[in-house]
Amino acid sequence: MSAKLIKGTEIGEQILEEITAEVGKIKEERGIVPGLVTILVGENPASISYVTLKIKTAHRLGFKEVQDSQPVDISEEALLALIEKYNNDDSIHGILVQLPLPKHIDEKKVLNAIDPDKDVDGFHPVNVGRLMIGGDEVKFPPCTPAGIQELIVRSGVETSGAEVVVVGRSNIVGKPIANMMLQKGKGADATVTIVHTRTRNMAEHCKRADILIVAAGVPGLVKPEWIKPGACVIDVGVNRVGEKPSKNDPNKMVAILKGDVDFEAASEIAGFITPVPGGVGPMTITMLMRNTLRSMKFKLGI
Ligand code: GUN
Repeated sequence: MSAKLIKGTEIGEQILEEITAEVGKIKEERGIVPGLVTILVGENPASISYVTLKIKTAHRLGFKEVQDSQPVDISEEALLALIEKYNNDDSIHGILVQLPLPKHIDEKKVLNAIDPDKDVDGFHPVNVGRLMIGGDEVKFPPCTPAGIQELIVRSGVETSGAEVVVVGRSNIVGKPIANMMLQKGKGADATVTIVHTRTRNMAEHCKRADILIVAAGVPGLVKPEWIKPGACVIDVGVNRVGEKPSKNDPNKMVAILKGDVDFEAASEIAGFITPVPGGVGPMTITMLMRNTLRSMKFKLGI
């Protein structure tokens, strides 16, 4: 392996320590801590595992954390009323509704009901607009793209003038990260291309990339020959390709995760690469915590 491994677990940990110190200081000076509510509808196993980790992390940082689990058959009306309750709760600075939602609920309606000033996921159209404008306008950069940018910056990879190719055009990752990388400023100033399922000759675009960000949700989509030697490869894919016994408890099965990039072969060509798991994944939760702290600071005017 010649590529430098970008360890999201370690970088995320550093940032969590920075957040913990700041939370402690504000608590001491003002007696206030960030408040985060996580709303989980139903029992999707992946959602449960994400939410459990979010709750654990929030507790560790000294946040107020409210876990609000709702049955899979909750009505859309009841869910909207719940969001309104938290919109009006002064001790809550961040509202997270775990996606996906059951089919009978209109996801767009739900996301739009969250107060944009508590939308720590950054999914509300107001925050999407703020992100597009960039600079001081941005309140809550969406968590996975913010984590990706932080990994790139903290690994010392030059972005100014770099060719960035983003594979995937989702609202959660592809579109926002492309937007963030082309803004003016640190960790940005790049020339950005987005490729997607309808792109002609995806491989040719990828081969130009100094920074290749892959968020397609297709295991092993990016082949080693698509990677420019020395490039920085960020693999956002978290594909569950099977199950294996847990290391801690051999009677328990855990998911086998695979990224969108053929990691073993790619790491012989790339200059920098993120592993799956342990790359982008841990950064998403870290950035959610940072956004919740930001929300409280905006409210306090500090
Ligand atoms: N489901 C998968 N990723 C996310 C995320 O970043 N936020 C929310 N709310 N749900 C998700």
